Amino acid sequence: MVIRQGKLEDIESLRKIDNLSLKAKHSTDYFLENLGNIMVTIDSGRVLGYIMCKGEEISNLVVHPDFRKKGIGNSLVKEVMKKSKRLILRTRETNRDAYIFFKKIGFTKKRKIQKYYSNGDNAIEMEFKKQ
Ligand SMILES: CC(C)(COP(=O)(O)OP(=O)(O)OC[C@H]1O[C@@H](n2cnc3c(N)ncnc32)[C@H](O)[C@@H]1OP(=O)(O)O)[C@@H](O)C(=O)NCCC(=O)NCCS
Repeated sequence: MVIRQGKLEDIESLRKIDNLSLKAKHSTDYFLENLGNIMVTIDSGRVLGYIMCKGEEISNLVVHPDFRKKGIGNSLVKEVMKKSKRLILRTRETNRDAYIFFKKIGFTKKRKIQKYYSNGDNAIEMEFKKQ
């Protein structure tokens, strides 16, 4: 299993993983514009998950549903932690799995943002600071 920078050839897989996982899906153009901020996990030539991090902000972290709870999300976050003193992210208040995941990995809750998402869902903002 390797983690590497996202490439053009990954975009179709990234879209599929989004479709299987997220309420708000991203377009091909969105991935094209953001490829430079994406790291992917590859196993036997297959994309199993990705993280998108712009500056200090983790904007997406998605692991293919068939490959969750195997440490892939953890290793993607650790990869961006290596290069960052501080990271922030926002996740839906309803997404308890993500909240538990990020707490375990060292993030703490900063604040709640009311009606942050277009469907009216609240967001929880979380922060990681290197000691
Ligand atoms: C959140 C997500 C990225 C986690 O990825 P993952 O590869 O399954 O996570 P890992 O296997 O690396 O788990 C790391 C730790 O979090 C825990 N964890 C992961 N998912 C969990 C869940 N659903 N409930 C409780 N704990 C969970 C694991 O048990 C593990 O703890 P451990 O080290 O003590 O064993 C994945 O569930 C996902 O893609 N969810 C849908 C998209 C999403 O919600 N993204 C986050 C919002 S930006």
